[in-house]
Amino acid sequence: MLPGAPDPPGWRRRWGRQPGPGLWCPSLLLLLAVLLGCIEAQTGPGSGGEPELNVYMSEEEVRRLIGLDAELYYIRNDIINHRALSFNLIIPTETSSLHFSWHSKSKVEYKLGFHVDNPLAMDMPQTNISLQGDVPRSLSVFRVDLFCSGKMETEIMLVMQLNITISSAKNITVLNFKRRKMCYRIDPVNVAPTTSTRVFYISVGVCCAVIFLVAIILAVLHLHSMKRVELDDSMSDSGSSQGLSQPSTQTTQYLRADTPNNATPVTSYPTLRIEKNDLKSVTLQEAKAKVKDIAISRERVTLKDVLQEGTFGRIFHGILVDEKDPSKEKPMFVKTVKDQASEAQITMMLTESCKLRGLHHRNLLPIGHVCIEDGEKPMVLLPFMNWGNLKLFLRQCKLVEANNPQAISQQDLVHMAIQIACGMSYLARREVIHKDLAARNCVIDESLQVKITDNALSRDLFPMDYHCLGDNENRPVRWMSLESLVNKEFSSAGDVVGP
Ligand SMILES: *[C@@H]1O[C@H](CO)[C@@H](O)[C@H](O)[C@H]1NC(C)=O
Ligand SMILES: *[C@@H]1O[C@H](CO)[C@@H](O)[C@H](O)[C@H]1NC(C)=O
Ligand SMILES: *[C@@H]1O[C@H](CO)[C@@H](O)[C@H](O)[C@H]1NC(C)=O
Repeated sequence: MLPGAPDPPGWRRRWGRQPGPGLWCPSLLLLLAVLLGCIEAQTGPGSGGEPELNVYMSEEEVRRLIGLDAELYYIRNDIINHRALSFNLIIPTETSSLHFSWHSKSKVEYKLGFHVDNPLAMDMPQTNISLQGDVPRSLSVFRVDLFCSGKMETEIMLVMQLNITISSAKNITVLNFKRRKMCYRIDPVNVAPTTSTRVFYISVGVCCAVIFLVAIILAVLHLHSMKRVELDDSMSDSGSSQGLSQPSTQTTQYLRADTPNNATPVTSYPTLRIEKNDLKSVTLQEAKAKVKDIAISRERVTLKDVLQEGTFGRIFHGILVDEKDPSKEKPMFVKTVKDQASEAQITMMLTESCKLRGLHHRNLLPIGHVCIEDGEKPMVLLPFMNWGNLKLFLRQCKLVEANNPQAISQQDLVHMAIQIACGMSYLARREVIHKDLAARNCVIDESLQVKITDNALSRDLFPMDYHCLGDNENRPVRWMSLESLVNKEFSSAGDVVGP
């Protein structure tokens, strides 16, 4: 079926009620999966005498979880939608139940099981159907309840396994539904109006974006005036001299100063989730175990040129060979460590690489695969973006600007900033805190598409951007430095942002 053709039964789109633009961007990828799944299902083998099994999320459920008006089929008329199954949906803290709709024309047996990667943080999920039985013959809904134990604040990887046995053919189909459940404390005072919490998160996202936009525009002004060579470094330097000992108050003040008309009452700021850096509590074995499901064989990866190099980390341009068809190759970023890297550094690379895992948005670049074979240096693979790191790119633009007639325009920069805003707004809605948004953690391709990525190895590759505040922990001091930067040059920034 083509998207323009009449809707087949069961596939209902409501173009009349499109979600707002903010909801569109995160949903596009998923919509694509829904559409492709639909096409796949329609072109699949006919269903003569087949059980006609359907498993899906209703439109209501998809809207609740993703904000898109569509049904999401996992199985449609016996055809499995692998794209839909590959989505690792994020379940926010306040959502504690999932609903699946299913039915089958003839006898199909099922077995249901769950796997939780951190049983301490979450109790085993409960369902309101038995764990073994026959798929109902009429359209039914089952519920899966997810309860955080409250003993820990963390994210939990959760797999719901549904084994399907079609009685005529005695073989089992194993389906894995992956979910990433957030278990964070929600300030009880502010729990009640979830929409206002959401608005708050979005506004925080937008604030981040505005700050970033201002930073980029200032960067351009600097490029044009050619006054400074090392913008970011000077930013950091000026920041480091200004009361770094109180990072949290600085951030709050900044939010207030930047958004004087923000309707969000100041009292709601405590809802901003504060994440502790608990990297030290994770061992290398645990970090490896967490990424086991995306591990691939080292043989499929060929390393080419080194793109960036630090004291213990390196980013390569690599080639990933397709699993089934060895003639198909995909370019990748490969983050890896050198021989002298300590176990803690390797653990940190693996842990930080998972920051955006399971997120699907065109302005986010989450981890793709890992190679964690014993005796080899671990590698983290991300899809390749051919113009590479955004910070290096912007720096290079400045260098070539003098003799390059096609230097990037201000429109391009604003377009980049908007894309980052889009990605951040999505992160905010998914309750993922990036903690280190900066140009160094973004990548760009030749169509000027920008994607936010994780900050694994950034401390090593951009040491000038991180400061050790008397202890052994390196922090990006960008918030403080931007504030001072903005305060100092507020008029010129206001002029640019104003129109
Ligand atoms: C599903 O089948 C696989 C392979 O046969 C088995 O390992 C797994 O335990 C089964 N899961 C459930 C929930 O029964
Ligand atoms: C399970 O719960 C859902 C929603 O709470 C309900 O719609 C459904 O009928 C229940 N299913 C069974 C088998 O009780
Ligand atoms: C499972 O059943 C399908 C459909 O009947 C059949 O095509 C397939 O070969 C079977 N697979 C195995 C491993 O028996």
